[in-house]
Amino acid sequence: MSATILPEKTLHYPVLLNEVINIITPQNGGTFIDCTFGQGGYSKKILEYPNTKVIAIDRDENSLQIASDLKKKFEDRFSFHNIRFSQIKDLKIDGEVKGIIFDLGYSLNQIKDLSRGLSFDSKGELNMKMGLNDFSAKDAINKLDQKELEQIFKYFGEEKKSKLISKKIVFERQKKNLDTQDLVNIVKSTKKNYYTKTNQATKVFQALRIFVNKEISELTRGLKESANIVSQNGIILTVSFHSLEDRICKFFFNHLSKQDKVSRYLPEKKLTKKAFSLITKKLIVPSSKELKLNPPSRSAKLRAIKKIDIYENNKNVFLKFKNYLNIEKLSEKL
Ligand SMILES: C[S@@+](CC[C@H](N)C(=O)[O-])C[C@H]1O[C@@H](n2cnc3c(N)ncnc32)[C@H](O)[C@@H]1O
Repeated sequence: MSATILPEKTLHYPVLLNEVINIITPQNGGTFIDCTFGQGGYSKKILEYPNTKVIAIDRDENSLQIASDLKKKFEDRFSFHNIRFSQIKDLKIDGEVKGIIFDLGYSLNQIKDLSRGLSFDSKGELNMKMGLNDFSAKDAINKLDQKELEQIFKYFGEEKKSKLISKKIVFERQKKNLDTQDLVNIVKSTKKNYYTKTNQATKVFQALRIFVNKEISELTRGLKESANIVSQNGIILTVSFHSLEDRICKFFFNHLSKQDKVSRYLPEKKLTKKAFSLITKKLIVPSSKELKLNPPSRSAKLRAIKKIDIYENNKNVFLKFKNYLNIEKLSEKL
């Protein structure tokens, strides 16, 4: 069965859908958790196969309408929960979970909804909340000090002008409440002689979105829980869009599936059996056909692992990303 959904039929085009279906094989039935329901592109496709069940989640309550339409059609096979990745351990699951999917980032509908202020085209108040948030971009921009803002832009956006931008923000916000376009103009004023292919505010907006939605702790907690929840022979699959989230997925999947390197100069280490095997030895990216149909898919990267043994939770697995997690903790003062 072909898994292509044409963009004119739905505003959000489910990225790498054929590839996802080929890996999770709903053709053989089973229960799947769609952690990023969005417009339901993946869930709908999985439900087309008989003997499948989908437990879907999304933090955005706008997904509720599409989810309730799907519930009418697939009453016993579909459920939706308006929760975040970090809460999936609370899901009540009967039986085995054959696949857990994370299609990270934002749907086109969220970006195009200018009231959310996710894009630099938005007018009005700074927001950037995806759903179930404790604070907004307005709080961050107005309440954090210069050093803290600089860290967010530098580490979450890899923005080279982070110091100058944060200095200007702190200066300008004394005169007025900064809105979305004020932020765009501040960033642009620091890059007058620079040419960039994308909008000059792209990196600062990405950084603020990551911070406001606590994307790093959400993803790390969601991945850790998934490793516990997924059943033997089950699959965890991620589609990532920015380099930081891809680094986290890659690191976690390698950690779960690869043997530690043994050095012949060090005392022999006891080799532990790995609980997962890496399915995507070669990274999967959109085909040229998909890129033509849906250009925003260009930065998508698909990775997947399969559970082959009992998994013992390692609390410190994400120590490598401690700095990023600490930056998110700045939100505790908001
Ligand atoms: C790229 S879209 C998914 C699109 C979906 N695969 C489809 O075909 O329509 C990502 C979705 O994940 C949701 N999301 C992002 N982070 C989340 C989190 N921490 N918890 C729950 N949902 C999240 C967003 O609200 C958004 O709807």
